[in-house]
Amino acid sequence: MKKIMILSGAGLSAESGISTFRDSNGLWENHDVMKVCSTKGWIEDHKAVTKFYNERRHELEFKKPNNAHKVLAQLEKDYRGRIIHLTQNIDDLMEKAGAKEVIHLHGTLTDLRCEACTKIYSIGYRAQGESEKCPNCGNNRVRHNVVMFGEHAPNYSYLSQAIKECSLFIAIGTSGAVIDIVPIAKEFKNSIIIDPKRQSTRSMYDPKPHIDEYFEYFIQKKAGESMDEMLSIVDEYMKSSSKYKHK
Ligand code: APR
Repeated sequence: MKKIMILSGAGLSAESGISTFRDSNGLWENHDVMKVCSTKGWIEDHKAVTKFYNERRHELEFKKPNNAHKVLAQLEKDYRGRIIHLTQNIDDLMEKAGAKEVIHLHGTLTDLRCEACTKIYSIGYRAQGESEKCPNCGNNRVRHNVVMFGEHAPNYSYLSQAIKECSLFIAIGTSGAVIDIVPIAKEFKNSIIIDPKRQSTRSMYDPKPHIDEYFEYFIQKKAGESMDEMLSIVDEYMKSSSKYKHK
């Protein structure tokens, strides 16, 4: 049974008004990533990191899913059990669009996590309380449920699983700066990359200068405007009887 692996990044939510990280005027242009999204920064200043995530959580409350979130949520419904959507995004816009099975590789902004009993619980869009206590164990070692640089990302194990199980790979709105999508694309005969910008490959050993050159299709559009083209490739692929698999 043909299955599709989708790996999405901040570009998927850009048209919903959530800034990406590395575009001009992106989040890391206005915040020191090592201060607010690294274990070192967290150890040095819990308050600053908690404030950063409280602000982002508050902003998220009024953000709406864009066309791409809606189409991808519908795709999950139409091909139930055959889409593995892994997102690097911590926003809840896929869930707001009706998706039920998205795997968040870097955590979820609307949840907190207890470092004592590891319980993860939802707080919606409210700020983490000054003396927030874990509802499970009552401990106060509660923090944002977001994976920081320097931390283990437990859900990364789903990446290799998806590469094994799927035969069509779709990368949407990610620069590949954290999860290098070139080695993943090399595993697939059939692949699509969606990005309005051509991104350069990150390793000097990559013979091809652009990431999109490792993909079968390059839809050089914004996520929200690329869905019709993506869907026609997906539908054609899912219908074709061509023996599929890795390169
Ligand atoms: N539609 C599709 N892609 C877009 C759009 C859009 N409207 N706008 C921008 N993009 C593309 C950019 O061209 C870029 O390739 O989205 C990508 C965003 O790249 P980054 O800002 O690096 O975001 P991302 O790849 O998700 O970053 C990965 O880095 O800081 C960490 O944990 C953070 O999950 C994040 C990870």
